[in-house]
Amino acid sequence: MVFPTDENVIVGLDRADDAGVYRISDDLALIQTVDFFTPIVDDPYWFGQIAAANALSDVYAMGGVPKTAMNLVAFPIKEMDITILRRIIQGGVDKLSEAGVVLVGGHSIEDRELKYGLSVTGFVHPQRVLVKKNLREGDRLILTKPLGTGIVNTAVKAGMASAELTARVTNLMAALNRTAAEVMASFDVHACTDVTGFGLLGHLSEMVCGSGLGVRVFAGRVPMIPEALEYASMGLIPAGAYKNRDFREAMVAFAEPVERAHRDVLFDPQTSGGLLISSQGGQATELLEALKQNGVRDAVEIGEVIAGPEEKIWVI
Ligand code: CO
Ligand code: CO
Repeated sequence: MVFPTDENVIVGLDRADDAGVYRISDDLALIQTVDFFTPIVDDPYWFGQIAAANALSDVYAMGGVPKTAMNLVAFPIKEMDITILRRIIQGGVDKLSEAGVVLVGGHSIEDRELKYGLSVTGFVHPQRVLVKKNLREGDRLILTKPLGTGIVNTAVKAGMASAELTARVTNLMAALNRTAAEVMASFDVHACTDVTGFGLLGHLSEMVCGSGLGVRVFAGRVPMIPEALEYASMGLIPAGAYKNRDFREAMVAFAEPVERAHRDVLFDPQTSGGLLISSQGGQATELLEALKQNGVRDAVEIGEVIAGPEEKIWVI
């Protein structure tokens, strides 16, 4: 399908990036994104926070600053207590306030299945847009949140996770990528995306596709929720992880010592995951240090961009 475009579209549908970007003037561009889903945690207030953090994340992944948002609500008003919806929206609004974003509208419909999310609008300088497909040889890859939320959420649904683990992972999903985005804005970053449904290796595959370059990932360095690794070794893997693997396995080569459980967590679909940043090699150490100093304590350098194997990910 061919979609109409114009000369001010900086990132459009053809790029399949985290958000659309449209030039307003020589020093201002608009970022637009939308995301909504069914509840991923039981607590309505936390679900609202996570949905908002997740929707905002795509603006941060483009190197932008979110400014306004609108609610998207589908609610089974005949079967569900309206106070549940109020808690969800309160969670969303509180997360937006934390991000310095104002809610300016929204729309709700009656639906048999509850869904909530937001459309978010942000700003970026047209010369500072961070697309996902712009890896350069010698770049270092930094990931800002640990992996494993999909696996842990599966364990939560199966009643296997402790209250402490549930709370820890809920907090992780509700955490904004704001600080990470603000810190990387003063460094020479070439490409960025946020890790969500396709898992780390799925999103990395998107970055590598068409780059003519390769990527080396150090599996042992990739931050992972420890319990997610345990559950993965017990075979507790969400269906989405298998889908991600089947879709992208031709692009990924694992060194033999990389254990099965590690491989599964690398494909685990994330909700509101961290930023995956490709930074100019010489600045990566400094960027990592700045991230940690500003409170992004989980940030780790997980790999590097190399000349070859071309458009392949080598996990060692
Ligand atoms: Co995204
Ligand atoms: Co999105």
